Amino acid sequence: MNAAPAPVLVGLDLSATSELAVDWGAAEAVLRGCALELVHVAPPTPLPAVVVTDADHPAAYGDIPPPTLPHARCEAVGTRVRHAHPSLDVVVRVVPGSDPARTLVEESRHACVAALGARGLGALRGMVLGSVSKAVTEHAHAPVVVVRHAASTTIPDQRVVVGVDGSEVSAPALRFAFEEARRRRVGITAVHTWQPDIRTPSAEWWPEDPIRGEMDERAVASESLAGFREEFPDVDVRVHVAQRDAIAELVKLSSGAGLLVVGSRGRGPVASAVLGSVSAAVLRKAHCPVAVVHPDGTAPTGDSAGTATRAGSA
Ligand SMILES: Nc1ncnc2c1ncn2[C@@H]1O[C@H](COP(=O)(O)OP(=O)(O)OP(=O)(O)O)[C@@H](O)[C@H]1O
Ligand SMILES: [Mg+2]
Repeated sequence: MNAAPAPVLVGLDLSATSELAVDWGAAEAVLRGCALELVHVAPPTPLPAVVVTDADHPAAYGDIPPPTLPHARCEAVGTRVRHAHPSLDVVVRVVPGSDPARTLVEESRHACVAALGARGLGALRGMVLGSVSKAVTEHAHAPVVVVRHAASTTIPDQRVVVGVDGSEVSAPALRFAFEEARRRRVGITAVHTWQPDIRTPSAEWWPEDPIRGEMDERAVASESLAGFREEFPDVDVRVHVAQRDAIAELVKLSSGAGLLVVGSRGRGPVASAVLGSVSAAVLRKAHCPVAVVHPDGTAPTGDSAGTATRAGSA
């Protein structure tokens, strides 16, 4: 008997943005034919459950509103999703924990993909990317999709845009992008940017000749894509090579895309950073959901997991 496919995991903090992640995750789970798991991490309640349902005795709290019931609120979100997708298996879990990021990283071990809102309940603090999203993106054991805006209903062909830097570590990101494109029956736009002074190492060096430079870089992109084109002949591929800053180009193209996929790391020199500079920047600036894929499909463990603890807050 085949094991059930791994579920799509969504971190739900009951903010409006995390509900956008719920919508993304539900659509993804339908496409994948797997379950949707909505996980809310909440500190163990300081009050006995019998007091929490205290609508009859509001005076017990003075002016402080009675604590809300996370279970009931999460279940209401689950009910909304079941209503929208009657055939979808939706599991709602409230997991006790004081560090949402660490808990969600652990939960990601058994997920095929984890979806989070770009912001959460702390959105008024003005950061562009919340601390839980940042830490989970860095340390999750599955690809992470960060959702910032409601899905567009006006863009007809929401291609999957994927950044290709010619490095081996971008192969899992390319695979994820091709699989997503096939599931959604859309094409892929593979984006490779270059600058005369930061050439791809495998490209030949033609400093005075931008046309040769572009041809070299196009060859780098084509080489990265060759195996995938064979494996996914049904996916239309456009190669977009530009002599431009990678972040600016990916952000620009994300405005017409359904999903932007990047590897967690590229060819950059700061090997100790968990996320490369392009990945970190597009998470903050892209106009569509961003998927971050780690080189082996998982994220670093050990010391780095401690970062999730330090970074995590609700
Ligand atoms: N307690 C939680 N349980 C489950 N998911 C969570 C929890 N907290 C955050 N998330 C997930 O992470 C996303 C981003 O929230 P995050 O906490 O990072 O942003 P924030 O609240 O705006 O910022 P911060 O908490 O750093 O001030 C949410 O949309 C949600 O998907
Ligand atoms: Mg938060």
